[in-house]
Amino acid sequence: MKKFYITTPIYYVNDKPHIGHAYSTIIADVLARYHRAKGDEVAFSTGTDENSQKTIDAAVKNGAGEKIMQYADQMAEIWKHTWEKLDISYTRFIRTTEEDHKKVVYEIWKRVNDAGDIYKGQYEGLYCVGHEAFMKESDLVDGLCPDHKKAPERIKEENYFFKLSKYQKQLLAHYESHPDFVMPHSRFHEVTSFVASGLEDISISRPSKGWGIPVPGDETQSIYVWFDALINYISAIGLSAWEDHPADLHAVGKDITRFHAVIWPAMLFSAGVPLPAQVGANGFFTIDGVKISKSLGNAIDPLALAAKAGNDALRYFLLREIPYGEDGDFSFAKFDARYEGDLANGLGNFASRVTTLAEKYGPFEQGLLLDGAIAEKIEATRTEVEALINQFKFHEVLQSVWNLIQVGDVMVNVTKPWETGDKNVLFTLVVMLDNIAAFLLPFMPVTSTAITAAIRHEGGAIVVKKLAPLFPRIAGTSSSPS
Ligand code: MSP
Repeated sequence: MKKFYITTPIYYVNDKPHIGHAYSTIIADVLARYHRAKGDEVAFSTGTDENSQKTIDAAVKNGAGEKIMQYADQMAEIWKHTWEKLDISYTRFIRTTEEDHKKVVYEIWKRVNDAGDIYKGQYEGLYCVGHEAFMKESDLVDGLCPDHKKAPERIKEENYFFKLSKYQKQLLAHYESHPDFVMPHSRFHEVTSFVASGLEDISISRPSKGWGIPVPGDETQSIYVWFDALINYISAIGLSAWEDHPADLHAVGKDITRFHAVIWPAMLFSAGVPLPAQVGANGFFTIDGVKISKSLGNAIDPLALAAKAGNDALRYFLLREIPYGEDGDFSFAKFDARYEGDLANGLGNFASRVTTLAEKYGPFEQGLLLDGAIAEKIEATRTEVEALINQFKFHEVLQSVWNLIQVGDVMVNVTKPWETGDKNVLFTLVVMLDNIAAFLLPFMPVTSTAITAAIRHEGGAIVVKKLAPLFPRIAGTSSSPS
């Protein structure tokens, strides 16, 4: 059995999930399900990034005061609950406050330190809590962080540094020999030119505030939250499992590509641990042109949307609307249009017509004739879907499947099986629908399973049961966005 290990970013617990987070997680879920359907042994991790300044601030803001751990427990439950409701098929939910994780962090810190890559130094500069990252003057707009619209803290402190600069050559050599290390390629170019322009060492600790993972041997300092967070990918499966088979893909958002494609590989080089195979960077959803973020507070609750339209509709929309890697705008009007057009009138209507007729004129015994042109079209779609999914072109996969649905619709209209009851035609349509369901399994698991369950193989014949509407008319999501 081939192993496949995929990860989502671990999410900050300063607020609940919004649609942008659901997007990163759903992409990973699609790929996990795709590999599972191929028979691979899939490990799929997600979780929460808790050892951050944001957690302390949010606990205080939400009246939890000193009870930071209690607050983190509550928030971690909310994230877990969201992924369960959205039917995310993760195999491990990791929290960075877990003891097992801390042990792995210590082990990596030790290895990096043994390699001579950690030293004490003076950090003087800017720190944005929103990003949990050090910033440069040149990153600011009117003195503010352009994403969080807040002035970063000016800090001057002694802390530990990691010799990132030492790994510039090794990183560039790795990029050179792994041309798909970062996808899409446009992001990869940004990463390579960033590294080629020169790397500075980075600070990897902050003065301790009694929260976070203490620096081994120096309790006055806590390990910088990103250094700790990245290691979650190892602790989620254990160091020896990672050494045996590191992640195949870190699915992340474009804003955190550098952490994953520059700092993380350098940490792994230093610790003598194998690198992940690939980093995939999705684009950002905006709402009415404005970035969605917890800090800006214009989030959309993915659970409310899924409760109204169904998980599959949400998944379909997110993956169909925006090409992977690009940014796109979310609007309820667009969501409703896709729901009506592509789902209710497209796939839903086709499935309902075919199963209604097939129930009436079935069963379909062996020896019926599969239309040759249609059989070819199905195989061409299969090849296309395989190629596109491996290039992260999810919207094109869905386009390709919808082309097949359209071909099916035309066939129904032209052959009028409700008049002829032609079994060869109906058999061909049923085979088409069955294949459409199989192509859609990773993307729309509920719908796919419902279709497959309606097409049963019984004693050499195919028996079809009429499907209830897969996408019943809804009042429109725009009327109740949250
Ligand atoms: N905790 C870090 C990740 C550590 S991974 C070792 C973090 N957390 S986050 O909660 O702020 O964001 C998690 C993910 O959500 C990131 O991949 C980010 O890009 C993604 N998104 C946040 N807002 C988004 C949109 N509006 N649209 C698409 N993805 C978005 O960063």
